[in-house]
Amino acid sequence: MEDRQGRLAAVDAEALQAAAVAAIGAAASEEELEELRVRYLGRKSELKLALREVRDRETGMALNAARAAVEEALAARAGELAAAGAATAGDGFDPTLPGTHVPRGSLHLITQLRRRIEDIFVGMGYQVYDGREVETVWHNYDALNQPEAHPSRDPQDTFYLDDDTLLRTHTSPSQIRAMLEQEPPLYLVSLGRTYRRDALDATHTPVFHQVEALAVDRGITLADLRGTVETFARAIFGGDRRVRMRTSFFPFTEPSVEFDVTCYLCDGVGCPVCKHSGWIEMGGAGEVDPNVFESVGYDPEEWTGFAFGLGIDRIAFLRHGLPDLRLFWENDIRFLEQF
Ligand code: DAH
Repeated sequence: MEDRQGRLAAVDAEALQAAAVAAIGAAASEEELEELRVRYLGRKSELKLALREVRDRETGMALNAARAAVEEALAARAGELAAAGAATAGDGFDPTLPGTHVPRGSLHLITQLRRRIEDIFVGMGYQVYDGREVETVWHNYDALNQPEAHPSRDPQDTFYLDDDTLLRTHTSPSQIRAMLEQEPPLYLVSLGRTYRRDALDATHTPVFHQVEALAVDRGITLADLRGTVETFARAIFGGDRRVRMRTSFFPFTEPSVEFDVTCYLCDGVGCPVCKHSGWIEMGGAGEVDPNVFESVGYDPEEWTGFAFGLGIDRIAFLRHGLPDLRLFWENDIRFLEQF
């Protein structure tokens, strides 16, 4: 009898221990843990009652081992809950605590502006044409009617890779590539990086970005150019921007103009942004020179066109009142995340 009882008690002790340890491990609060302590180790608990009645050594050892294991589990769980409690205070979840901040990336300001400009022109029926950053001297200068002796060809100003190859100094060679590939009529915009050997300072970077527009069709006049530039300026700067043109010279256009828009800040009254002139310089433009049409095999008697080009960095610089162009290249997250 004794023997049989002892073995039963040992089995009970094991089952009891397993149930207790599992419940303790799942306890979600200190209150719940205290309830479990009372249930499994309290004066009227099964274990304590069994220990009081125990007669043989073997059963006593089994029951004591179970008690030790339950005590250990209680201490371990109490430690875990205390640690979690330090972070979550009380019932395990505090909905008033701030969440973990996950920093969110964004597109670079120049990329955002680039896409916006592309959208504006796509809205006017233009194609987006990707030119090349590594160009031939012919595409960058000769085909654009740039005289052999023009100072901008100087290696002081242009990054040459060899005698015939360079990093494009403007996006205008995209005009040449597009016209060689496609038949007129043609309406395109081409954006990207351009390179000049300028010393780096607050207002010059040797790499910068331009947008080039080209329209080729029958009977295109400067009035079409003006309307297009004005539509573009209004879309970029908002409001009722007006455009003015001043005569200028570029080898690839005849006549050539430089165009300004009324200042987006003071609307032409005069302020620090426009250096008190009321106008902001935008870029160069003109009617495509017949020599350019000839270099790509378009008949200048049949086709007419306008082109214009301007700096994207400059627009971003003005639009956001930035102090230094180098900010675009430093990739300081404190600058980038503002846009
Ligand atoms: N390529 C000129 C520059 O980099 C800008 C320019 C002027 C582009 C007149 C044109 C244009 O298409 O017609 O300064």
